Amino acid sequence: MGFTIAIDGPAAAGKGTLSKAIAAHFGFAHLDTGLLYRAVGAKTLLGVEPIEAALKLVASDMDDTDLRSPEVAQAASKVAVIPEVRAALVDFQRAFGARAGGAVLDGRDIGTVICPDAKVKLYVTASAEVRAERRYLELSAKGDASTREQVLADVKARDARDMERVEAPLKPADDAVLIDTSEMSIEDAIAKALAAIEAHTA
Ligand code: CDP
Ligand code: CDP
Repeated sequence: MGFTIAIDGPAAAGKGTLSKAIAAHFGFAHLDTGLLYRAVGAKTLLGVEPIEAALKLVASDMDDTDLRSPEVAQAASKVAVIPEVRAALVDFQRAFGARAGGAVLDGRDIGTVICPDAKVKLYVTASAEVRAERRYLELSAKGDASTREQVLADVKARDARDMERVEAPLKPADDAVLIDTSEMSIEDAIAKALAAIEAHTA
């Protein structure tokens, strides 16, 4: 069993940024599990039935640059409430988590459901307003026309769907270290995460 780090939290909390930095620091592989749900969501926008899309997902489906759009984010959170969709994606994520060389997985249910035995679990969060502003800046830099108000409403709708679903809802694992990045620079968040990981492995 490899060294697994689980990073969960709501949209635009900084999970991906932290995961990449942690993976680079330790030389571990990184899986953004949100991309799996985004890839399934993107297929449903093309008319494919969600469970079929999840069962037939292949690695190249995750290469689509449009997966980062707000439409796909909403579609992802809608397919993510379907138990059969989640079940179809479990084995791939667990196998990734068990890699011999170490793995960082980020998502919503990594510490609670996918890798409950992860060596270290982080729950990364920030206020909805701060997260929406970060996502708004990212989207507008890419030429997306969404307004601040739309991005905030999208983030809140997704938070509610992710936290209120019956199957694998978003919540901190009992043994997760909480990191609120609302008033933290990226550098400070990385330093805090690395310190938490080192404290667990000392
Ligand atoms: O993966 P997740 O959706 O949780 O968030 P992310 O993609 O890592 O971060 C969303 C945006 O917030 C990125 O543009 C980051 O550069 C930014 N960010 C930030 O400004 N301050 C932080 N402490 C963490 C992330
Ligand atoms: O980057 P951001 O945090 O905005 O979203 P994401 O991590 O790409 O996830 C997109 C959607 O997929 C989330 O809103 C969740 O509904 C779903 N998801 C999930 O249910 N479980 C995961 N492990 C990862 C994502």
